[in-house]
Amino acid sequence: MAGQLISGKEIAQGIREEVRERVTDLRGSTGVVPGLATVLVGEDPASQTYVGMKNRAAEEAGILSRQITLPVETSEDELLGWIDGLNSDPEIHGILVQLPLPDGIREERVLEAVDPRKDVDGFHPVNVGRLAAGVKEAFPPCTPKGVMEMLLRSGHDPAGKHAVILGRSNIVGRPMASLLLGRGPGGNATVTVAHSRTQDLPAVARLADILIVAIGRPEFVTRDMVRPGAVVIDVGVNRVEAPDTEKGYRLVGDVAFDEVREVAGAITPVPGGVGPMTIATLLSNTLKSAEAWAERDG
Ligand code: GUN
Repeated sequence: MAGQLISGKEIAQGIREEVRERVTDLRGSTGVVPGLATVLVGEDPASQTYVGMKNRAAEEAGILSRQITLPVETSEDELLGWIDGLNSDPEIHGILVQLPLPDGIREERVLEAVDPRKDVDGFHPVNVGRLAAGVKEAFPPCTPKGVMEMLLRSGHDPAGKHAVILGRSNIVGRPMASLLLGRGPGGNATVTVAHSRTQDLPAVARLADILIVAIGRPEFVTRDMVRPGAVVIDVGVNRVEAPDTEKGYRLVGDVAFDEVREVAGAITPVPGGVGPMTIATLLSNTLKSAEAWAERDG
């Protein structure tokens, strides 16, 4: 029997409506309108799509959105100048610098320049450290927090379960491990992080009650790597050539969806799975930031 389909799109819609209501309340009680600035350097087509989606979602939630698009030749110093400006702009409560950045710009210098109080991506070392130390006030990074919400809201509480994460990136794998290890709702899991150098990765993956895949390789996880009944969360988004389609490509995840669905207890689709949850969390983090600024200023 095919596993339950976990629709990130539907769960995210619910969160976006909750955020919209709270944005209205905040505006009514304090006059503060949450503001999100997205910064895109260069013309990577996937990044352009993601940033566009983030801004549209912000506007729909009543959040002020400002997109700063800079040419690929932008220097590191120029970019740091833009970030300084946003750090001191009272209309902006959240700053997101879309990654990856063009060659020649040092990612860590840029991420460290964002005011940690506006770091709605949760990538500043202060927020990374707070998350790792289990300090509650941190902004959780959007994709792993979205995955955690998705598990909770679909009835798959990770508490006590063995979660295996495939991938050790700063954007997904590492913060995902910190969140699942936490003591709050959505945490309390037993966590294994596996990666490209793990010996016998299929055997490690088969230990999972919850398998979270963020390895960046199209359809890498096959049915033999999944324990029957496991919950499979596919974070991957890969463009693969499809000459017979209008766009010339199609999107697939890191999981071979059709065959894995036959053994999994539950599975997320691509698209319509984790992607919409990332955006919903960004909105929720921006609102949280604006609420904190209103309280500090009020
Ligand atoms: N690139 C891929 N995922 C992300 C993300 O969550 N935030 C940012 N800023 N860039 C990304």
